[in-house]
Amino acid sequence: MNAEHRPADRSRPPLPPGPKGRGIRHVLGRLRDFPKVLNGLRGEYGDVVSYNLLNRRFVAVCDPAAIREVLVTKQRSFHKTFGYKDMRPMRNPTIASGDGDDHRRRRKLYQPSFGKKGMAAYSEIMVEKAQAMRERWSDGEVIDGAGEMHELAMNVAITAFFGRDMRVDPKIGQATVDGCIWDFTLRFLPFTALLRALPLPGNLRARRAWKAMDEVVYEVIRRARDRSRDRSDLISLLVRAEDDEGVERAFSDEEVRDEAFVLLMVGHDTSSSAMTFCLDYIARNPAVRDRLEEEVDNVVGSRPIEPADSARLPYATAIFQEALRQSPPLYFLGREAIEDCVIGGYFIPKGTIVQTYFRPAHHNPHYFESPGEFRPERWMDDADLRHMKQSYFPFGSGARMCIAWNFATREAVYALASIVQRWRVEAVSLKPTRINSAGVYRISEGLPLRVRERKAQVTGSHRPPPPSPSCPWMDSPPRPETRQ
Ligand code: HEM
Repeated sequence: MNAEHRPADRSRPPLPPGPKGRGIRHVLGRLRDFPKVLNGLRGEYGDVVSYNLLNRRFVAVCDPAAIREVLVTKQRSFHKTFGYKDMRPMRNPTIASGDGDDHRRRRKLYQPSFGKKGMAAYSEIMVEKAQAMRERWSDGEVIDGAGEMHELAMNVAITAFFGRDMRVDPKIGQATVDGCIWDFTLRFLPFTALLRALPLPGNLRARRAWKAMDEVVYEVIRRARDRSRDRSDLISLLVRAEDDEGVERAFSDEEVRDEAFVLLMVGHDTSSSAMTFCLDYIARNPAVRDRLEEEVDNVVGSRPIEPADSARLPYATAIFQEALRQSPPLYFLGREAIEDCVIGGYFIPKGTIVQTYFRPAHHNPHYFESPGEFRPERWMDDADLRHMKQSYFPFGSGARMCIAWNFATREAVYALASIVQRWRVEAVSLKPTRINSAGVYRISEGLPLRVRERKAQVTGSHRPPPPSPSCPWMDSPPRPETRQ
């Protein structure tokens, strides 16, 4: 234990071990391939590692029990990191950036938007968009699986968020997200305010896109405030959210507008990346693909896919769960310690940036047998579920767990079922997939896949009643954080 890691006060646990110095090597490595840098650090120092970056103390946490401490049992000791604050074009805190009481209030107001009425409407849209996508393909064609999933996720998002009556150009949605990511990157550079003010092409493009998106969002808000019309799009449900006393306008118009930008930002790249990985894993694992085809043939057959099918396709759901285990789109989460605390047996001083890394936890052999293998079946064995969930965080955990886990799961299951019902997906190349881990963990440079029409497989449809909805991701569905 070096001097820095020895406790000053003997009753205090030690600081986590890690390399000394300002860590320029890690900054450079981080820009290139942080998962690789992290693996090196873990090999040398273990699953809770401390390092300094530009005069700030960071702690990387890969141990599942310590991750739970950060996200669940000791979550009150942490806030979201500075990267989430002062995000553009938001003008107020949002569900993704607010902390404490502010976050609890927003989370509660969001709940009805992911309730029965909303989910029924979103599901119909997901099925419709997935079917429209597959009808564009032709037998033997090589499609770009990544591009298709990207487009599908955007089409679902803009229709589910803004409603069928709003004709939103997906390009505006994409430019809005790109603008948010551009500005998010500026947040991490010196002289952010100056960089934001300069007429850089990225700034100009972002402003144009945000202005166009503002027009869309404020029009939806205007329509939603008119109570004579029934609406079930996500933004309208937020507009109509009532507080505990039943007082309307719990969210101001400007707050709803900010939440709309956040939803586009967090609800698109994540889903598109996860669905792309599903296609990649299916194409590379013919036995998995065969079993999925069999399930879809037995359950859906030749009839149109219907929203209730999401609960009748456990193997498709397991493929999604396994893809999220192997390749979680949000592969780490950042928090700032707002008070001194102890994580994984180590002392974490106030102000430390703690990052919980999920990929190492998802590959921990104590929780997952043969973790490198893509085995959806592991999610269908009830005996192992409780054990595996101890080390599984694709949607985060605790009071901030992804509010849209059900949305994302259904979206992927409908996409898989729609594709497989008509097409066999074949890998064009078996070379290792190239990954981009800057931001969302995703496949870079596209995913070429050959699609072949399936003909004889449509045998009939067995329509078991859908099981009662439950959360496949954790033992009990997440609840808003309550005061202890
Ligand atoms: C496979 C797709 C998705 C993955 C892997 C994913 C993952 C996550 C994770 C890990 C968090 C926790 C963030 C934290 O603790 O700091 C989160 C939060 C969130 N997600 Fe998702 N997400 C997905 C899809 C979506 C979609 C489609 C939407 C919107 C429709 C969405 C909306 C949100 C929101 C609003 C939050 C903030 C919740 C809070 O802080 O209370 N997500 N997501």
